Amino acid sequence: MPKNKKYQPSSEILKQAYVKDYERLYKESIQDPEKFWGKIAQELEWFRPWKKVLKWKPPFAQWFIKGKCNIVHNALDRHIRAGLGNKLALIWEGQDGQERKFTYQELSDEVCKLANGLKNLGVKKGDRVNIYLPRLPEQIISMLACAKIGAIHSVVYCGFSIEALRTRILDAKAKIVITADGYHYREKLIETKKIVDQAVEKIKSVKHVIVVKRTGNKVKLKAKRDVYYDELIKGVSNQCQTEEMDSEDPLYILYTSGTTGMPKGVLHVHGGYMVGIYITLKWIFNIQKDDIWWCTADPGWVTGHSYITYAPFICGLTQFFYEGPPLYPDPGKWWSLIAKYKVTKFYTTPTAIRASMRFGDDWPKKYNLDSLRILGTVGEPINPEAWRWYHQYIGQSRCPIMDTWWQTETGMHMISPLPSMSLKPGSAAKPFFGVVAEIVDKDGKVKEANQGGFLVIKTPWPAMLRTLYKNKRRYKKVYWQEIPGVYFTGDAAKKDKDGYFWIEGRTDDVLKVSGYRFGTAELESAFVSHPAVVEAAVIGRPHKIKGQAIKAFVILKQGFKASPELEKELKDHIKKEIGPIAKPEEIEFVDSLPKTRSGKIMRRVLKAKDSGKPVGDTSTLED
Ligand code: WT7
Repeated sequence: MPKNKKYQPSSEILKQAYVKDYERLYKESIQDPEKFWGKIAQELEWFRPWKKVLKWKPPFAQWFIKGKCNIVHNALDRHIRAGLGNKLALIWEGQDGQERKFTYQELSDEVCKLANGLKNLGVKKGDRVNIYLPRLPEQIISMLACAKIGAIHSVVYCGFSIEALRTRILDAKAKIVITADGYHYREKLIETKKIVDQAVEKIKSVKHVIVVKRTGNKVKLKAKRDVYYDELIKGVSNQCQTEEMDSEDPLYILYTSGTTGMPKGVLHVHGGYMVGIYITLKWIFNIQKDDIWWCTADPGWVTGHSYITYAPFICGLTQFFYEGPPLYPDPGKWWSLIAKYKVTKFYTTPTAIRASMRFGDDWPKKYNLDSLRILGTVGEPINPEAWRWYHQYIGQSRCPIMDTWWQTETGMHMISPLPSMSLKPGSAAKPFFGVVAEIVDKDGKVKEANQGGFLVIKTPWPAMLRTLYKNKRRYKKVYWQEIPGVYFTGDAAKKDKDGYFWIEGRTDDVLKVSGYRFGTAELESAFVSHPAVVEAAVIGRPHKIKGQAIKAFVILKQGFKASPELEKELKDHIKKEIGPIAKPEEIEFVDSLPKTRSGKIMRRVLKAKDSGKPVGDTSTLED
């Protein structure tokens, strides 16, 4: 097979495609974005129409000015009123094989009960609710219940540990934490409630902890503070008015790692966000009434917020949601679930594909994957080799792959193929409608085709973050001042002669380990919180499956000696502080770190040293 072979859409795919003429519609959309987005927004229901589509006072955008809406109205109420209450909304399977199903009506009933339960605990519009749950229906229900009553959810991925959870609860001043008695990750029992107990210690804002029973594992309930989820909703009405929200009212905060130790609270709102995620899912995955959608992400990350909790329901889809991890108990598990539930659209990560590939093509071949129509990936660049494997063995050389580029901050897909486009393995193809993406140098000058540079977005889009929670200054600085006047993505990329984008990876101090995002600073401060460590520097080193793995350089305090035992202890420390997914692959003990004269660690030098490559210009190096 020629290396740069393009993949053309089949006539079957073309027939169903909502968008057949990308170039024409794209041009129209950027010539008059307000017209384009205004038209899309009309496909959804609003309590009161907006007066103006966009108000742009750089770098602050407002969309659908004075419009009144609620994302949950569009995700649930709207369908029930249209007579779709009996359509299956959610099929959940536990790692243990247990199954739970919810029609739109049943899902709405559960959301209403919890919404009333939250109100009974004193939750009001604008209050923050922290959700620290494993992949259970209650995780989705909790998010929807908050949004329904206008509370702001802040979901923390439950693979994070005490310290990471604590900083996020503190920053948001959460009133409520919703967690579980525990869950099983493979064979291991993870005691989420215990983690929460430690994380909320002495945090005054937290008035109640709600505990979902998952394992039946015994947990201690703190009197007056803690309540079991099932007791909270017992006898509570399944009717609850959906709160009328302004388009620009906050929907959620989602923390993401940046270049300082304090994670950034990315703030999204009801109106523009629901419009952006709705149309990207519908058009990029060609959503049909009979689709069964499966996104393998966790709602603890933005992929799960946008493309599990909200957009699939806004599109009126039936979705499958799985509790367990990939490759467990065997590498065929996911493929068996696709066959069992007749999944039609499947969305996962390059890491998961590379990890599966390692076990060969016999595993997918064991299962009937004929139901699949379109595949997707997200989170990191996909290498052409993994793309082709995914295409051939999962997509059976029949299903196009949507390599969607976007970020926590963008809320929605920004650069992605459409099913009607020809595909180049490894390229995320072209900007979505209304999105103006460009490759520039550090002064903002546009680069020529095939020249690498910084990926920036030049104009606002409806699902964009509005600010960083209670930190406008940081919002301006991080995203809009790095290269003045444009949104700085932090990614390096290039655009080829056909206008296809090729994302190369982060240019800042952010790592992507298995698609998970970590700021070096958050990891480094976790290292320094260990009594043996004076200073630490963390880099990402290329990893065949994870994309990047964490390598740390550590300077020890006097009196501590480097040893394999200490290395292990430090790895466990990071696991405990941040989470198992942040566990460093290797720790190297050093006497000094390369720094600039102003004291900034030169990770570039460490990376070069680690990979045995030339170090390059070190004129600014102090030592
Ligand atoms: C970063 C954002 C957006 C959902 C999950 C990650 C990388 C994301 C792609 C892609 C190459 C990608 C970028 C981006 N990224 N999608 N299709 N190809 N790289 O969200 O944690 O906010 O991370 O993920 O580096 O900046 P996130």
